[in-house]
Amino acid sequence: MSGKLKDKVCIITGATGGMGRAISATFAASGGLLVLSGRNKEKGMALEKQLKNSIFIQGDVSNAEHNKTLVQVALTNFGRLDILSINAGVLGLGNVVDLPIESWQKTLETNLGAIFYLSKFAIPHLLEGNNGNILINASIAAFKSFPNHPAYCASKAASVALMKQLAVDYAPKLRVNAMCPGPVDTPLLHDSAIAFDNPESAVENAKEKSLLQRLGTPEDIAKLALFLVSDDSSWITGSTINIDGGILNV
Ligand SMILES: NC(=O)c1ccc[n+]([C@@H]2O[C@H](COP(=O)([O-])OP(=O)(O)OC[C@H]3O[C@@H](n4cnc5c(N)ncnc54)[C@H](OP(=O)(O)O)[C@@H]3O)[C@@H](O)[C@H]2O)c1
Repeated sequence: MSGKLKDKVCIITGATGGMGRAISATFAASGGLLVLSGRNKEKGMALEKQLKNSIFIQGDVSNAEHNKTLVQVALTNFGRLDILSINAGVLGLGNVVDLPIESWQKTLETNLGAIFYLSKFAIPHLLEGNNGNILINASIAAFKSFPNHPAYCASKAASVALMKQLAVDYAPKLRVNAMCPGPVDTPLLHDSAIAFDNPESAVENAKEKSLLQRLGTPEDIAKLALFLVSDDSSWITGSTINIDGGILNV
């Protein structure tokens, strides 16, 4: 197999979701050796079967131990670790008064805590190579508020802050960046509609508001992810790249 990620060992979280699945397929087609994380065993096993050189590990990223296991599986099976693509995320919808404390905590632990856990266990091994790379899937919600999204927006803003801190602490050996997608056509986007005043038209409204008049596709995001983890972006670190059809510019 030849390609931009030839023999690079990658851990991909949220691999069973819309974007994570497209990122997994793109990285596999580019020669990556993959450890895939998700909660849904059926989807994960089907992906493992479909993609060459991939191993699916079922687990909950908000649990530190699952993140440790992902690193161990990469080292045991592939002998090294090069790339983290961190995509697992939940919405945790509800305004501050209504949101149960458990939902706040679970959202922060899934969207933010998991970045800390996986980075903590993986970085010593990423530093053993010369081109270690961490790519965080954040969101335009890091910069813009949405109704009834306090846990989500707070977790995404903090993810960007954590990304910048990692980039500073581990340069020049590690590059660390974040993608900030706008509305992308995945289950999570459609699930978010209930947070808006007119849930039935919320997704269509997002599409119409964007300069490019369409939703993003998981493949749009996967192409950016490949660029950011490959040597094509070798002078980019500590950056947030918006990929949003221009919606933040409106
Ligand atoms: N879609 C958008 O418009 C949009 C925009 C900006 C940013 N994002 C971000 O992009 C990332 C991917 O989202 P998506 O749109 O692809 O959503 P998705 O299709 O709903 O996928 C979410 C993924 O996260 C996994 N996940 C959630 N909680 C988990 C947990 N506790 N432990 C392990 N895995 C967990 C899910 O696993 P299972 O399915 O196996 O449960 C699934 O693989 C998220 O971080 C999201 O915040 C999305």
